[in-house]
Amino acid sequence: MKDLISLHDITSEELHQLLTLGLKLKDELKKGIPHPILKGKTLGMIFTKSSTRTRVSFEVGMTQLGGYPLFLSSNDIQLGRGETIHDTAKVLERYLDGIMIRTYAHSDVIELAEEADIPVINALTDLLHPCQVLADLMTTYEHKGKLEGLKFAYIGDGNNMAHSIMYGCAKAGLDCAIATPKDYQCDDEVVENAKADFKASGRELILTEDPIEAIKNADVVYTDTWVSMGQEAEKAERQKIFTPYQVNSELFKHASDDAIFMHCLPAYRGFEVTEDIIDGPHSVIFDEAENRLHAQKAVMATLMG
Ligand code: CP
Ligand code: NVA
Repeated sequence: MKDLISLHDITSEELHQLLTLGLKLKDELKKGIPHPILKGKTLGMIFTKSSTRTRVSFEVGMTQLGGYPLFLSSNDIQLGRGETIHDTAKVLERYLDGIMIRTYAHSDVIELAEEADIPVINALTDLLHPCQVLADLMTTYEHKGKLEGLKFAYIGDGNNMAHSIMYGCAKAGLDCAIATPKDYQCDDEVVENAKADFKASGRELILTEDPIEAIKNADVVYTDTWVSMGQEAEKAERQKIFTPYQVNSELFKHASDDAIFMHCLPAYRGFEVTEDIIDGPHSVIFDEAENRLHAQKAVMATLMG
């Protein structure tokens, strides 16, 4: 494992190792046991999109591992003015021990990883958000005591979160149901890859337009914004189309009684989820946000340690 670009690229065993290490690092942190695994190492963090959780959790995580995080906004580096990914990769590998990148085109992250001799971590593209799903699986495990055999339901846009959730569930042995409106389904190639992963794991993948079918008896209920970064111009249209996909108490009744609710955040209360659900007793959104830190420390320690 040189990079973390997609959960489709890693084995089920590698995924479980990351989760186990994340839980161990979390436990050590709570007990005050230092773990300077990346002492003297530097992580460059390229952002061409906004971030709260990803930026802060990677910076703090790198610091807790004894390393140094370097924030590189695309507004400030030459990549944002048209320098090639190739040249950027070849230069940065001379200074850094790893690169984390959040950007639009997934192909840019693949190219960066191919060109750079140092580990590259995908911190969200238009296609995938693997670090988020590692935290989501870790949170599910903490609340449910297991992963294997649970049903994970995602209701909303067939976006980067839906894609990484499919990959993550297949590798971790969960059944997965995705409900999206007709014209907002998941990417065809991701679906084909995911189907192969589910076949290998023997678990079920349901792709439907019916939110009730997806959420039925689910142990985990998940949604994400209807308007991802870069889609701001489509906001009004999307809000109209996605209204039947709102996660509210009426829909939540169909989930398992002890279902947990997760959302990668940022959330828009009153749109993809109602306040009574996201701020109610089933919600574990802040445990989930915290686990970004622990899961990503496991990723950095594994790739850069
Ligand atoms: N969930 C997530 O990635 O949040 P940020 O956009 O704040 O990093
Ligand atoms: N789908 C959202 C996730 C944000 C963490 C986006 O891409 O904006």
